[in-house]
Amino acid sequence: MATQGIRIMLLLAICLLPLSVEALVRHYKFNVVMKNATRLCSTKPIVTVNGKFPGPTIYAREDDTVLIKVVNHVKYNVSIHWHGVRQLRTGWADGPAFITQCPIQPGQVYLYNFTLTGQRGTLWWHAHILWLRATVHGAIVILPKLGVPYPFPKPHMEQVILLSEWWKSDTEAVINEALKSGLAPNVSDAHTINGHPGSVQGCTSQGGFTLDVQPGNTYLLRIINAALNEELFFKIAGHQLTVVEVDAAYTKPFKTDTVVIAPGQTTNVLLTATHATGKYLVAASPFMDAPITVDNRTATAALHYSGTLGSTITTLTTLPPTNATPVATTFTDSLRSLNSKSFPARVPLKIDHNLLFTVGLGIKPCAICVNNSRVVADINNVTFVMPKIALLQAHFFKIKGVFTDDFPANPPVVYNFTGTQPTNFNTMNGTRLYRLAYNSTVQLVLQDTGMLTPENHPIHLHGFNFFVVGRGQGNFNRKKDTKKFNLVDPVERNTVGVPAGGWTAIRFRADNPGVWFMHCHLEIHTTWGLKMAFVVDNGKGPNESILPPPRDLPKC
Ligand code: C2O
Repeated sequence: MATQGIRIMLLLAICLLPLSVEALVRHYKFNVVMKNATRLCSTKPIVTVNGKFPGPTIYAREDDTVLIKVVNHVKYNVSIHWHGVRQLRTGWADGPAFITQCPIQPGQVYLYNFTLTGQRGTLWWHAHILWLRATVHGAIVILPKLGVPYPFPKPHMEQVILLSEWWKSDTEAVINEALKSGLAPNVSDAHTINGHPGSVQGCTSQGGFTLDVQPGNTYLLRIINAALNEELFFKIAGHQLTVVEVDAAYTKPFKTDTVVIAPGQTTNVLLTATHATGKYLVAASPFMDAPITVDNRTATAALHYSGTLGSTITTLTTLPPTNATPVATTFTDSLRSLNSKSFPARVPLKIDHNLLFTVGLGIKPCAICVNNSRVVADINNVTFVMPKIALLQAHFFKIKGVFTDDFPANPPVVYNFTGTQPTNFNTMNGTRLYRLAYNSTVQLVLQDTGMLTPENHPIHLHGFNFFVVGRGQGNFNRKKDTKKFNLVDPVERNTVGVPAGGWTAIRFRADNPGVWFMHCHLEIHTTWGLKMAFVVDNGKGPNESILPPPRDLPKC
């Protein structure tokens, strides 16, 4: 009788146990190949993954392991970065060339191997060498674990929306030309939505991207800004969007008619097809709040209600002007972490490293340049010089002479950063890193400078998410501004805009050993030297050390 009871209880227990779902291993093959692509009524060969522009989407679930075999069939060195993937202990798979790996040389292969831990949402991948990311990029969709719902109403369908920039000429030629002259590169010739500039660009025959919707249904749009150098406004005529996630971190939902998105950032929005019928314009246009030339062409696509015939499209009554700072500020100020029981915002409250980094442009003498000078960029007056072998290798194998760990915690010279220009625009060169003990906490204030001109810098940190605890205009005032920090539900992300002529404060915990790049995600600023890296030492615990490098790690 007793054993019978136990048996029944056991059976019951087994039935009630949630089906344990094994994490999967997902295999992808990325063939990096040249492909002829037609845009703006002209055809040119571009570097692609598997011949696609934009490249293939990587689908996985939280906890899955992703294996991507990258085969380089082009004449350029290649490396791929999985932007926003934390790469816990697997820095070898992070991808920035000469930071965590030597490039994959022509004819060579490298297997990126990482696990998606504690993340779900939209991220993206892109080449992290030269300017190849102009055409070598795609989406990463991390679904929640099986059986775990979204913290918002389940959408009927999901759609990746990749925003990008297109140059009529070869982008490597564009940047090489700029580096030769010491001047800024040519701006792009069009913006694109899922690879298409749209009919407004004057090549109607090529059409544009169309999103088909059913009246009443709700869609999850996974918007990614893959543009090289431009922040963008994103709008859909006649529709409101509800923001629910940025950079693969859930937010408190809020409604907006305009999304502002910087290169490197992702934004998930819910779109409800509230009309019965019709065609509505989808638009991506540049945002620039400084006197800097941008590509001011608007990329367009269409939202198409099923059954709608004819070609009349409802256009946007207003598109924010390029310098619509208030629109951008309203959007940015609306972002808050969801901070729910299941997704708490774990903001570091005790800070070990209080850092102030100035970010901006400078000028260096250059005898062979057009103005006998070249534009450079810096963090704390250091223009980062790329090493000849990867920093992570140098750190792991203790190779001397590759980098120093004396990156300044504060600007070497204190001046009115956002006021009158200093007399000296020169910067120092260096491959200098900032060292952090495992699990130490960091508050980093990123302060824009008006050297040359103030400008919005979308700063991206590899290996971590951070909380954006504060933001303001002018010079950061430690006493006054710290008091206003949001330490309860600040937005969590991996790329944040430092406002032109202002500052942004972020906090993170250094719980990922390795070498982690931080740079402006405007590609031209990275090229000019607006970059540095943190080196995070191993901890003492069992899972607190960098894993050994894979055997096929490329050699320099
Ligand atoms: Cu999306 Cu270091 O880059």
